[in-house]
Amino acid sequence: MSDKWRQRLHLEPPQGWMNDPNGLCWFDGSYHVYFQYCPSAANGSGPKYWGHYRSPDLLHWKFCGTVLRPDIPEDRDGVYSGSALEANGTLHLFYTGNVKEEGAHDYITSGRGANVIHVTTRDGDKMSEKHVLLTVADYPAACTQHVRDPKVWQQDGAWHMVLGARARTDAGLVLVYHSDDLVRWQYAGAVTTPEPFGYMWECPDYYILDGKGVLSVSPQGLPHFAERFQNVYQSGWFAVDGALTEGCLGTFTEWDMGFDFYAPQSFEVPDGRRIMIGWMGLPDIDYRNPTVSLGWQHCLTLPRELAWDGNGRLCQHPVRELTALRGEMVTIHDGETRKVPLPFDLEAEIHGDFSVTLANAMQLQYNAADGVCTLAFTDCQLGAGRTKRTAKLPECRRLRMLADTSSAEIYLEGGACVFSTRYYPDETCVTLRLSGAEGTLWHMNSPEVTCHAT
Ligand code: FRU
Repeated sequence: MSDKWRQRLHLEPPQGWMNDPNGLCWFDGSYHVYFQYCPSAANGSGPKYWGHYRSPDLLHWKFCGTVLRPDIPEDRDGVYSGSALEANGTLHLFYTGNVKEEGAHDYITSGRGANVIHVTTRDGDKMSEKHVLLTVADYPAACTQHVRDPKVWQQDGAWHMVLGARARTDAGLVLVYHSDDLVRWQYAGAVTTPEPFGYMWECPDYYILDGKGVLSVSPQGLPHFAERFQNVYQSGWFAVDGALTEGCLGTFTEWDMGFDFYAPQSFEVPDGRRIMIGWMGLPDIDYRNPTVSLGWQHCLTLPRELAWDGNGRLCQHPVRELTALRGEMVTIHDGETRKVPLPFDLEAEIHGDFSVTLANAMQLQYNAADGVCTLAFTDCQLGAGRTKRTAKLPECRRLRMLADTSSAEIYLEGGACVFSTRYYPDETCVTLRLSGAEGTLWHMNSPEVTCHAT
Protein backbone atom coordinates (compact mmCIF):
# COMPACT_ATOMS: atom_id res chain seq x y z
CA MET A 1 0.00 0.00 0.00
CA SER A 2 1.37 3.41 -0.97
CA ASP A 3 1.72 5.81 1.90
CA LYS A 4 3.22 8.77 0.04
CA TRP A 5 0.05 10.75 0.83
CA ARG A 6 -0.02 9.78 4.51
CA GLN A 7 0.22 13.12 6.27
CA ARG A 8 3.11 13.82 8.64
CA LEU A 9 1.77 16.81 10.55
CA HIS A 10 -2.00 16.43 10.26
CA LEU A 11 -4.46 14.14 12.01
CA GLU A 12 -5.99 11.52 9.74
CA PRO A 13 -8.11 8.43 10.36
CA PRO A 14 -6.07 5.22 10.65
CA GLN A 15 -8.54 3.79 8.14
CA GLY A 16 -11.92 4.84 6.79
CA TRP A 17 -13.35 8.33 6.84
CA MET A 18 -12.91 11.36 9.12
CA ASN A 19 -15.00 14.51 9.23
CA ASP A 20 -15.66 17.19 11.88
CA PRO A 21 -13.37 17.77 14.86
CA ASN A 22 -15.42 17.19 18.03
CA GLY A 23 -14.93 17.65 21.77
CA LEU A 24 -11.71 19.68 21.50
CA CYS A 25 -10.30 20.25 24.98
CA TRP A 26 -7.40 20.31 27.37
CA PHE A 27 -8.21 17.77 30.09
CA ASP A 28 -6.24 15.74 32.60
CA GLY A 29 -2.88 17.00 31.36
CA SER A 30 -3.50 16.30 27.66
CA TYR A 31 -5.00 17.85 24.57
CA HIS A 32 -7.92 15.82 23.23
CA VAL A 33 -9.23 15.81 19.70
CA TYR A 34 -12.31 13.69 19.12
CA PHE A 35 -13.63 13.48 15.59
CA GLN A 36 -16.41 12.17 13.38
CA TYR A 37 -15.16 8.76 12.39
CA CYS A 38 -16.45 6.11 10.02
CA PRO A 39 -13.84 3.35 10.25
CA SER A 40 -15.75 0.95 8.02
CA ALA A 41 -15.88 3.02 4.80
CA ALA A 42 -13.42 5.51 3.30
CA ASN A 43 -16.32 7.14 1.44
CA GLY A 44 -18.12 7.80 4.74
CA SER A 45 -21.12 5.63 3.95
CA GLY A 46 -21.12 3.68 7.24
CA PRO A 47 -22.20 4.66 10.77
CA LYS A 48 -20.52 7.65 12.43
CA TYR A 49 -18.57 7.14 15.66
CA TRP A 50 -16.33 9.40 17.71
CA GLY A 51 -12.64 8.59 17.32
CA HIS A 52 -10.12 9.97 19.79
CA TYR A 53 -6.63 11.45 19.50
CA ARG A 54 -4.62 12.62 22.50
CA SER A 55 -1.44 14.73 22.71
CA PRO A 56 0.79 16.19 25.41
CA ASP A 57 1.93 19.12 23.24
CA LEU A 58 -0.21 19.57 20.08
CA LEU A 59 2.60 17.91 18.09
CA HIS A 60 2.80 14.26 19.09
CA TRP A 61 -0.57 12.56 18.79
CA LYS A 62 -1.72 9.10 19.69
CA PHE A 63 -4.87 7.52 18.33
CA CYS A 64 -6.83 6.09 21.26
CA GLY A 65 -9.54 4.26 19.34
CA THR A 66 -13.29 4.66 19.04
CA VAL A 67 -14.88 6.05 22.19
CA LEU A 68 -18.54 6.54 21.24
CA ARG A 69 -20.56 4.36 18.89
CA PRO A 70 -24.28 4.18 18.03
CA ASP A 71 -25.59 1.74 20.63
CA ILE A 72 -28.81 3.22 22.05
CA PRO A 73 -32.08 3.87 20.16
CA GLU A 74 -31.51 7.65 20.46
CA ASP A 75 -28.22 7.57 18.49
CA ARG A 76 -28.76 4.47 16.40
CA ASP A 77 -28.02 6.20 13.06
CA GLY A 78 -24.90 8.06 14.13
CA VAL A 79 -23.00 9.63 16.98
CA TYR A 80 -22.90 13.05 15.37
CA SER A 81 -20.87 16.15 16.23
CA GLY A 82 -20.56 17.81 19.61
CA SER A 83 -18.26 19.30 22.19
CA ALA A 84 -16.51 18.79 25.52
CA LEU A 85 -16.29 20.73 28.75
CA GLU A 86 -14.45 20.05 32.00
CA ALA A 87 -16.21 20.53 35.36
CA ASN A 88 -14.75 19.42 38.70
CA GLY A 89 -12.26 16.98 37.22
CA THR A 90 -14.82 15.27 34.97
CA LEU A 91 -15.03 15.68 31.22
CA HIS A 92 -18.58 16.20 29.95
CA LEU A 93 -19.26 15.37 26.31
CA PHE A 94 -22.39 16.53 24.46
CA TYR A 95 -23.25 15.23 21.01
CA THR A 96 -26.15 14.73 18.61
CA GLY A 97 -27.70 11.29 18.45
CA ASN A 98 -28.95 10.97 14.88
CA VAL A 99 -32.03 8.83 14.19
CA LYS A 100 -33.72 8.07 10.88
CA GLU A 101 -37.15 6.47 11.21
CA GLU A 102 -38.25 3.85 8.68
CA GLY A 103 -40.85 4.97 6.19
CA ALA A 104 -41.58 7.67 3.63
CA HIS A 105 -40.03 10.77 5.18
CA ASP A 106 -38.22 13.85 3.91
CA TYR A 107 -35.94 13.59 6.98
CA ILE A 108 -36.15 17.37 7.35
CA THR A 109 -39.62 17.92 8.80
CA SER A 110 -40.39 14.28 9.49
CA GLY A 111 -38.66 10.99 10.21
CA ARG A 112 -35.59 12.31 11.98
CA GLY A 113 -34.50 12.30 15.60
CA ALA A 114 -31.83 14.80 16.67
CA ASN A 115 -31.14 14.18 20.34
CA VAL A 116 -28.70 16.04 22.55
CA ILE A 117 -26.91 13.31 24.50
CA HIS A 118 -24.59 13.72 27.48
CA VAL A 119 -21.80 11.37 28.61
CA THR A 120 -18.99 11.85 31.11
CA THR A 121 -15.50 10.43 31.39
CA ARG A 122 -12.70 10.62 33.94
CA ASP A 123 -9.93 9.51 31.58
CA GLY A 124 -11.07 10.67 28.14
CA ASP A 125 -11.67 7.13 26.87
CA LYS A 126 -13.98 5.19 29.17
CA MET A 127 -17.44 6.71 28.83
CA SER A 128 -20.35 6.74 31.29
CA GLU A 129 -23.87 5.71 30.42
CA LYS A 130 -25.53 7.98 27.85
CA HIS A 131 -28.24 10.41 29.00
CA VAL A 132 -30.64 12.03 26.56
CA LEU A 133 -31.05 15.71 27.45
CA LEU A 134 -33.12 17.15 24.60
CA THR A 135 -35.15 15.66 21.76
CA VAL A 136 -36.87 17.23 18.73
CA ALA A 137 -39.98 17.74 20.89
CA ASP A 138 -37.97 20.20 23.00
CA TYR A 139 -36.95 22.49 20.12
CA PRO A 140 -39.04 25.53 19.07
CA ALA A 141 -41.97 24.70 16.76
CA ALA A 142 -40.50 26.96 14.07
CA CYS A 143 -37.56 24.53 13.64
CA THR A 144 -37.37 21.50 11.40
CA GLN A 145 -35.87 18.29 12.77
CA HIS A 146 -32.42 19.46 11.63
CA VAL A 147 -31.05 20.64 14.97
CA ARG A 148 -27.58 19.45 15.91
CA ASP A 149 -23.95 19.87 16.98
CA PRO A 150 -24.15 21.11 20.62
CA LYS A 151 -21.29 23.40 21.68
CA VAL A 152 -21.24 23.97 25.44
CA TRP A 153 -19.30 26.59 27.43
CA GLN A 154 -19.27 28.21 30.85
CA GLN A 155 -19.87 31.92 31.32
CA ASP A 156 -20.95 34.08 34.27
CA GLY A 157 -21.44 31.12 36.61
CA ALA A 158 -23.76 29.14 34.30
CA TRP A 159 -23.46 26.75 31.38
CA HIS A 160 -24.62 27.60 27.90
CA MET A 161 -25.22 25.60 24.74
CA VAL A 162 -25.63 26.53 21.09
CA LEU A 163 -27.22 24.19 18.56
CA GLY A 164 -27.18 24.61 14.77
CA ALA A 165 -30.65 24.52 13.18
CA ARG A 166 -32.81 24.83 10.09
CA ALA A 167 -36.10 26.75 10.40
CA ARG A 168 -39.24 25.55 8.62
CA THR A 169 -38.84 28.66 6.44
CA ASP A 170 -35.50 27.22 5.25
CA ALA A 171 -33.36 29.70 7.15
CA GLY A 172 -30.28 28.80 9.18
CA LEU A 173 -30.20 29.75 12.85
CA VAL A 174 -28.62 28.96 16.19
CA LEU A 175 -30.61 27.91 19.28
CA VAL A 176 -29.29 28.92 22.70
CA TYR A 177 -29.91 26.98 25.94
CA HIS A 178 -28.83 27.65 29.55
CA SER A 179 -28.26 25.24 32.43
CA ASP A 180 -27.27 25.37 36.11
CA ASP A 181 -26.34 21.69 36.38
CA LEU A 182 -25.38 20.51 32.83
CA VAL A 183 -28.40 18.19 32.93
CA ARG A 184 -31.53 20.38 32.73
CA TRP A 185 -31.41 22.87 29.85
CA GLN A 186 -33.75 25.83 29.34
CA TYR A 187 -34.34 27.40 25.95
CA ALA A 188 -33.05 30.98 25.98
CA GLY A 189 -33.63 32.17 22.41
CA ALA A 190 -32.54 31.96 18.80
CA VAL A 191 -29.88 33.89 16.92
CA THR A 192 -29.98 34.55 13.22
CA THR A 193 -29.55 37.22 10.56
CA PRO A 194 -32.37 39.67 9.66
CA GLU A 195 -32.62 38.08 6.18
CA PRO A 196 -32.18 34.30 5.66
CA PHE A 197 -28.52 33.40 5.23
CA GLY A 198 -28.55 29.84 3.90
CA TYR A 199 -31.09 27.16 4.89
CA MET A 200 -29.10 25.44 7.65
CA TRP A 201 -26.31 26.42 10.05
CA GLU A 202 -24.17 23.49 11.17
CA CYS A 203 -21.51 23.28 13.89
CA PRO A 204 -22.02 26.55 15.79
CA ASP A 205 -19.36 27.85 18.16
CA TYR A 206 -19.51 30.94 20.36
CA TYR A 207 -16.79 32.63 22.42
CA ILE A 208 -15.54 35.96 23.61
CA LEU A 209 -12.09 36.78 22.31
CA ASP A 210 -10.46 39.78 23.99
CA GLY A 211 -13.83 41.20 24.94
CA LYS A 212 -15.46 40.73 21.53
CA GLY A 213 -18.16 38.09 20.88
CA VAL A 214 -17.65 35.71 17.95
CA LEU A 215 -20.27 33.32 16.53
CA SER A 216 -18.83 30.76 14.12
CA VAL A 217 -21.21 28.72 11.97
CA SER A 218 -21.10 26.50 8.89
CA PRO A 219 -24.01 27.63 6.70
CA GLN A 220 -25.43 25.53 3.88
CA GLY A 221 -27.33 26.98 0.94
CA LEU A 222 -25.56 30.29 0.33
CA PRO A 223 -25.43 31.59 -3.24
CA HIS A 224 -22.00 31.28 -4.88
CA PHE A 225 -19.98 34.27 -6.14
CA ALA A 226 -16.66 34.69 -7.97
CA GLU A 227 -14.76 35.72 -4.83
CA ARG A 228 -17.04 34.51 -2.02
CA PHE A 229 -18.81 31.31 -1.01
CA GLN A 230 -17.11 29.28 -3.75
CA ASN A 231 -17.31 25.90 -2.01
CA VAL A 232 -20.44 23.77 -1.81
CA TYR A 233 -20.92 24.81 1.87
CA GLN A 234 -19.27 27.60 3.87
CA SER A 235 -17.75 28.24 7.29
CA GLY A 236 -17.25 31.63 8.83
CA TRP A 237 -17.87 33.99 11.70
CA PHE A 238 -20.08 36.88 12.74
CA ALA A 239 -18.99 39.49 15.28
CA VAL A 240 -21.66 39.54 18.02
CA ASP A 241 -22.41 42.92 19.50
CA GLY A 242 -23.95 42.43 22.98
CA ALA A 243 -25.24 39.29 24.69
CA LEU A 244 -25.62 36.35 22.33
CA THR A 245 -29.44 36.08 22.50
CA GLU A 246 -30.01 39.82 22.26
CA GLY A 247 -26.98 40.59 20.18
CA CYS A 248 -26.74 41.87 16.70
CA LEU A 249 -24.70 39.86 14.17
CA GLY A 250 -22.13 41.74 12.11
CA THR A 251 -21.12 40.76 8.59
CA PHE A 252 -20.10 37.17 7.85
CA THR A 253 -16.43 36.48 7.12
CA GLU A 254 -15.28 33.15 5.71
CA TRP A 255 -12.64 31.32 7.71
CA ASP A 256 -10.84 29.86 4.74
CA MET A 257 -10.86 30.56 1.02
CA GLY A 258 -9.39 27.21 -0.11
CA PHE A 259 -11.02 24.07 -1.48
CA ASP A 260 -10.99 22.03 1.71
CA PHE A 261 -12.28 23.52 4.94
CA TYR A 262 -15.49 23.01 6.92
CA ALA A 263 -17.06 22.58 10.37
CA PRO A 264 -14.33 24.11 12.57
CA GLN A 265 -14.47 24.07 16.34
CA SER A 266 -12.40 26.00 18.89
CA PHE A 267 -11.30 25.62 22.50
CA GLU A 268 -9.30 27.55 25.04
CA VAL A 269 -5.98 26.17 26.26
CA PRO A 270 -4.56 26.76 29.77
CA ASP A 271 -2.38 29.71 28.69
CA GLY A 272 -5.50 31.51 27.41
CA ARG A 273 -5.04 31.02 23.68
CA ARG A 274 -8.12 30.17 21.63
CA ILE A 275 -7.31 27.42 19.18
CA MET A 276 -9.41 26.37 16.23
CA ILE A 277 -9.23 23.16 14.21
CA GLY A 278 -11.26 22.56 11.06
CA TRP A 279 -12.09 19.55 8.96
CA MET A 280 -9.83 19.75 5.88
CA GLY A 281 -12.61 18.43 3.72
CA LEU A 282 -16.23 18.95 2.75
CA PRO A 283 -19.20 16.74 2.00
CA ASP A 284 -20.83 16.64 -1.46
CA ILE A 285 -17.80 17.97 -3.40
CA ASP A 286 -17.24 17.51 -7.12
CA TYR A 287 -13.47 16.97 -6.75
CA ARG A 288 -11.74 13.93 -5.27
CA ASN A 289 -9.37 12.60 -2.67
CA PRO A 290 -7.55 9.66 -4.27
CA THR A 291 -6.62 8.15 -0.88
CA VAL A 292 -10.12 6.60 -0.91
CA SER A 293 -8.78 3.71 -2.99
CA LEU A 294 -6.03 3.27 -0.37
CA GLY A 295 -8.58 2.91 2.41
CA TRP A 296 -8.76 6.31 4.10
CA GLN A 297 -9.96 9.83 3.43
CA HIS A 298 -9.64 13.33 4.96
CA CYS A 299 -7.66 14.99 7.70
CA LEU A 300 -8.04 17.88 10.13
CA THR A 301 -6.30 21.23 9.73
CA LEU A 302 -3.36 22.13 11.89
CA PRO A 303 -4.45 23.73 15.16
CA ARG A 304 -4.69 27.50 14.58
CA GLU A 305 -4.41 30.29 17.14
CA LEU A 306 -7.05 32.98 16.76
CA ALA A 307 -6.25 36.65 17.38
CA TRP A 308 -7.59 40.05 16.30
CA ASP A 309 -5.32 42.25 14.25
CA GLY A 310 -5.38 46.06 14.53
CA ASN A 311 -8.05 46.31 11.80
CA GLY A 312 -10.77 44.18 13.41
CA ARG A 313 -9.80 41.13 11.36
CA LEU A 314 -9.85 37.76 13.11
CA CYS A 315 -6.55 36.17 12.09
CA GLN A 316 -5.41 32.56 12.18
CA HIS A 317 -1.85 31.43 12.92
CA PRO A 318 -0.59 27.85 12.96
CA VAL A 319 0.03 27.12 16.68
CA ARG A 320 3.44 28.39 17.78
CA GLU A 321 4.36 24.87 19.00
CA LEU A 322 4.89 23.88 15.36
CA THR A 323 8.09 25.89 15.06
CA ALA A 324 9.75 23.26 17.30
CA LEU A 325 9.55 20.89 14.33
CA ARG A 326 11.58 23.16 12.06
CA GLY A 327 14.72 21.45 10.86
CA GLU A 328 17.18 22.37 8.12
CA MET A 329 16.66 25.90 6.82
CA VAL A 330 17.19 27.21 3.29
CA THR A 331 16.77 30.62 1.72
CA ILE A 332 14.66 30.82 -1.42
CA HIS A 333 15.33 33.81 -3.63
CA ASP A 334 13.01 35.70 -5.91
CA GLY A 335 12.75 33.80 -9.20
CA GLU A 336 14.32 30.65 -7.80
CA THR A 337 12.99 27.13 -8.35
CA ARG A 338 14.03 24.47 -5.87
CA LYS A 339 13.27 20.85 -5.17
CA VAL A 340 12.10 20.57 -1.56
CA PRO A 341 11.06 17.60 0.55
CA LEU A 342 7.63 17.56 2.19
CA PRO A 343 6.61 18.59 4.77
CA PHE A 344 7.94 22.15 4.90
CA ASP A 345 7.21 25.49 6.52
CA LEU A 346 7.79 28.59 4.37
CA GLU A 347 7.79 32.22 5.42
CA ALA A 348 8.08 34.83 2.67
CA GLU A 349 8.26 38.60 2.33
CA ILE A 350 6.35 40.01 -0.59
CA HIS A 351 6.64 43.17 -2.61
CA GLY A 352 3.64 43.76 -4.87
CA ASP A 353 2.59 41.02 -7.30
CA PHE A 354 3.90 37.55 -6.47
CA SER A 355 3.36 33.88 -7.12
CA VAL A 356 4.25 30.63 -5.39
CA THR A 357 4.16 27.48 -7.50
CA LEU A 358 4.26 23.98 -6.09
CA ALA A 359 4.88 20.80 -8.09
CA ASN A 360 4.64 22.92 -11.29
CA ALA A 361 0.86 22.76 -11.08
CA MET A 362 -0.46 24.45 -7.96
CA GLN A 363 -0.11 28.20 -8.07
CA LEU A 364 -0.97 30.92 -5.62
CA GLN A 365 -0.93 34.27 -7.36
CA TYR A 366 -1.47 37.77 -6.04
CA ASN A 367 -2.39 40.78 -8.10
CA ALA A 368 -1.62 43.83 -5.96
CA ALA A 369 -3.40 46.39 -8.20
CA ASP A 370 -6.69 44.48 -7.98
CA GLY A 371 -6.11 43.14 -4.45
CA VAL A 372 -7.00 39.65 -5.67
CA CYS A 373 -5.41 36.38 -4.66
CA THR A 374 -5.99 33.17 -6.62
CA LEU A 375 -5.16 29.57 -5.86
CA ALA A 376 -5.32 27.51 -9.05
CA PHE A 377 -4.41 24.02 -10.22
CA THR A 378 -3.22 23.78 -13.79
CA ASP A 379 -3.10 19.99 -13.63
CA CYS A 380 -6.21 17.96 -12.98
CA GLN A 381 -4.19 15.13 -11.40
CA LEU A 382 -2.34 17.15 -8.74
CA GLY A 383 -5.55 18.85 -7.64
CA ALA A 384 -7.73 15.75 -8.18
CA GLY A 385 -10.33 17.92 -9.92
CA ARG A 386 -9.80 21.10 -7.89
CA THR A 387 -9.75 24.16 -10.16
CA LYS A 388 -9.57 27.73 -8.84
CA ARG A 389 -10.41 29.69 -5.68
CA THR A 390 -10.19 33.47 -5.37
CA ALA A 391 -10.09 35.90 -2.44
CA LYS A 392 -10.08 39.66 -2.09
CA LEU A 393 -7.16 40.93 -0.03
CA PRO A 394 -6.33 44.64 -0.31
CA GLU A 395 -2.73 44.23 0.79
CA CYS A 396 -0.42 41.23 1.07
CA ARG A 397 3.12 41.62 2.41
CA ARG A 398 3.62 38.31 4.19
CA LEU A 399 3.01 34.66 3.44
CA ARG A 400 3.34 31.49 5.47
CA MET A 401 2.78 28.12 3.92
CA LEU A 402 2.73 24.80 5.72
CA ALA A 403 2.86 22.04 3.14
CA ASP A 404 2.37 18.44 4.19
CA THR A 405 2.61 15.37 1.93
CA SER A 406 -0.92 15.93 0.56
CA SER A 407 -2.14 19.30 1.84
CA ALA A 408 -1.15 22.94 2.00
CA GLU A 409 -2.32 25.65 4.38
CA ILE A 410 -1.43 29.13 3.15
CA TYR A 411 -1.67 32.01 5.63
CA LEU A 412 -1.57 35.46 4.00
CA GLU A 413 -1.01 38.81 5.66
CA GLY A 414 -0.58 37.40 9.15
CA GLY A 415 -3.46 34.94 8.78
CA ALA A 416 -6.06 37.55 7.73
CA CYS A 417 -6.75 35.35 4.70
CA VAL A 418 -6.17 31.58 4.60
CA PHE A 419 -6.35 29.00 1.82
CA SER A 420 -6.41 25.30 2.70
CA THR A 421 -6.29 22.62 0.08
CA ARG A 422 -5.50 18.98 -0.47
CA TYR A 423 -3.18 18.06 -3.37
CA TYR A 424 -1.74 14.75 -4.44
CA PRO A 425 1.83 14.93 -5.77
CA ASP A 426 3.61 11.93 -7.30
CA GLU A 427 6.52 12.21 -4.90
CA THR A 428 7.22 13.44 -1.38
CA CYS A 429 9.75 15.87 -2.88
CA VAL A 430 8.27 18.70 -4.98
CA THR A 431 9.49 21.75 -6.87
CA LEU A 432 8.82 25.12 -5.31
CA ARG A 433 9.13 28.38 -7.22
CA LEU A 434 8.87 31.88 -5.78
CA SER A 435 8.38 34.92 -7.95
CA GLY A 436 8.01 38.43 -6.53
CA ALA A 437 8.85 37.04 -3.11
CA GLU A 438 11.80 35.70 -1.17
CA GLY A 439 11.68 33.55 1.87
CA THR A 440 12.99 31.07 4.35
CA LEU A 441 11.98 27.45 4.19
CA TRP A 442 12.38 24.92 6.96
CA HIS A 443 12.17 21.19 6.40
CA MET A 444 9.77 19.94 9.04
CA ASN A 445 10.73 17.00 11.20
CA SER A 446 7.82 14.62 11.37
CA PRO A 447 6.53 14.21 14.88
CA GLU A 448 5.23 10.84 15.86
CA VAL A 449 1.55 10.39 15.04
CA THR A 450 0.65 6.96 16.32
CA CYS A 451 -2.25 5.94 14.19
CA HIS A 452 -3.05 2.56 15.69
CA ALA A 453 -5.00 1.98 18.90
CA THR A 454 -3.06 0.46 21.78
C1 FRU B 1 -20.98 18.65 9.51
C2 FRU B 1 -21.98 17.57 9.92
C3 FRU B 1 -22.63 17.91 11.25
C4 FRU B 1 -23.04 16.54 11.74
C5 FRU B 1 -21.88 15.68 11.26
C6 FRU B 1 -22.24 14.27 10.91
O1 FRU B 1 -20.01 18.17 8.64
O2 FRU B 1 -22.96 17.42 8.92
O3 FRU B 1 -23.70 18.81 11.18
O4 FRU B 1 -23.19 16.48 13.12
O5 FRU B 1 -21.34 16.33 10.13
O6 FRU B 1 -21.08 13.53 10.61
